[in-house]
Order: sequence, then C-alpha cells, then structure tokens
Amino acid sequence: MATASSCSPLVAVLVALLLVAATAPAPCAAVDPVNTYCARNLSGAPAQASVAQVLSELVPRASAGYYATATAGRGGDGSAIWGLAQCRGDIPAPDCALCASAAARQLAGACRGRADARVWYDYCFARYDDADFVGLPDTGYALILLNTQNATDPEAFEKAQRKVMARVAADAGDAGGGGLARETARFKDGVTIYGLGWCTRDITAADCGLCVAQAVAEMPNYCRFRRGCRVLYSSCMARYETYPFFFPLDGGQSADASASAAGDYDRVVLNP
Ligand SMILES: *[C@@H]1O[C@H](CO)[C@@H](O)[C@H](O)[C@H]1NC(C)=O
Ligand SMILES: *[C@@H]1O[C@H](CO)[C@@H](O)[C@H](O)[C@H]1NC(C)=O
Repeated sequence: MATASSCSPLVAVLVALLLVAATAPAPCAAVDPVNTYCARNLSGAPAQASVAQVLSELVPRASAGYYATATAGRGGDGSAIWGLAQCRGDIPAPDCALCASAAARQLAGACRGRADARVWYDYCFARYDDADFVGLPDTGYALILLNTQNATDPEAFEKAQRKVMARVAADAGDAGGGGLARETARFKDGVTIYGLGWCTRDITAADCGLCVAQAVAEMPNYCRFRRGCRVLYSSCMARYETYPFFFPLDGGQSADASASAAGDYDRVVLNP
C-alpha cells in the first residue's frame, strides 16, 4: 500500500528533494506525532531505567500484535513503570511497526525524566506512567482538533455527521469489533462523511463504547458545522472527515489523500 512506502526514509528523502522550495512534505500518519503530553518528574535513575526497559519491550511486541503492555521496576524503590502501545487496527503492519518505534523514540526524547508520558499519532498511541493505568478508561486529558473550515450546508452536514458518529460509538462498544469502528455515509454533491472510533485494547468493549460515545458527545461543543473533527483521549479517539483517512481506502485513492486534504486545524486542550 502507498502509505507504508511513503513513510520510508528513502522515499521521504526523494519526496523532500522533489518538493524542496515548493511545499512542505505532507505529514506522515505513522511517524509525525499529533500530540505529546508529559507531566510530573520521575523519582530518579532507577525509574528512568525502567522507562527505557518498558519502551524497548513495547516496540517489538506492539509491532507484532498491534497492542502491548509492559512493566518494569519495583514499587518499593519507586522504580515501577507501566507502559502501553496500541496501533489503530486498520493500518498495514509495516505502518504499525514504524509508528510504534517512532512513539517510543518520542516518549524517550520529548518526555525524558518525566513520570507520565503520552504520545498520539494518527496510526498509534503510546504511554508510560509510574502509576498503574492499564485497564482504567481515561477520558481526562483531551486534545480536540477542529478543521478551520465549515462544511457546505452546515446544518444538514451536522445532522448527517452526528448520525455517522452515533453509529461509530455504537460499533465501538461491540465486543466483536476489536476496539475499532468505521462508518461512512454519502452526504450530497459527492461528499462522503468518514467516521472512525478506536480504543486501547486494555479497556473492555463496553468501556470502549462509553469512551467513544463521550468523545462523540464532546464534538458539538467544539466542532459544530466543521468539516472535520478529532477528539483524542488516552483510552480512545473519535474522528470524522470528508475525505478517506482509514483503511480500506476507496478504490484508487491513496492514503496521502488524508494529508493533502487535511487543511488547517485548530487545537483545544481539555484538562491539561
Ligand atoms: C522536574 O525536573 C526538571 C528538570 O530536571 C526541573 O527543572 C524541575 O524543577 C523539576 N520539577 C519538579 C516539580 O521537581
Ligand atoms: C461557521 O459557521 C458558524 C455558524 O454559521 C459561524 O458563526 C462561523 O463563523 C463559521 N466559521 C467559519 C470558519 O466559517
């Protein structure tokens, strides 16, 4: 698929050469972080060593299985660390591997010395903490990305979008869905609405449904009439767009459509 190869360093260099002085290369969904969050300081060197161990365990296991948790260290000396990495279930395996290793690098670099670190990509999510968060639905910290453009015929679009996302939230709670929900609906004038919801696999299907429903319920507060919107929590994410951004892609369209059609987004952070 086009996405995997477009993320490879060689192709990235070629693309950069071709586009030099023309336009910035489109962001790659696997290796350019959408958001990084770091909080609190680690207690010391043993905890920092646990972080390195957890991240090095997460990368190969998440690359192979799309989801992994890992722990290292001991509670007694404050060196215990819990980690989780999750790829979006629809992406090709090479993109999962790229994303998981980019996420580990980002956490180790941007959040060095920190006790609570999280990074979001379009294709994956990773996190570590010095407290055990695994299995606990987390809808505290949130990043909302809203397209700066309104949809055409905004009232009708808003209604259609809410219908799509209500189906996404319902699907996300379905035990057979593996924490991934995709829905599309034809709007009008050739516009299709694409809706996606996904969860980290440590939470139950029921909690996944609730988490995505909460993300979807937040959308009208920030994204009313907007042609695209993302709500990113640490346990789930919900998104709609008017272009294809998840797999399988519509015939003939490349995943680069998601980057070139993305436009500008405003960012809102809740509970920083
Ligand atoms: C956290 O660590 C940074 C860098 O080592 C230091 O500057 C800062 O004061 C620390 N914050 C707290 C609350 O200890
Ligand atoms: C979007 O539509 C709303 C309501 O009509 C309007 O207040 C707002 O200015 C519009 N925003 C843009 C970016 O066009």
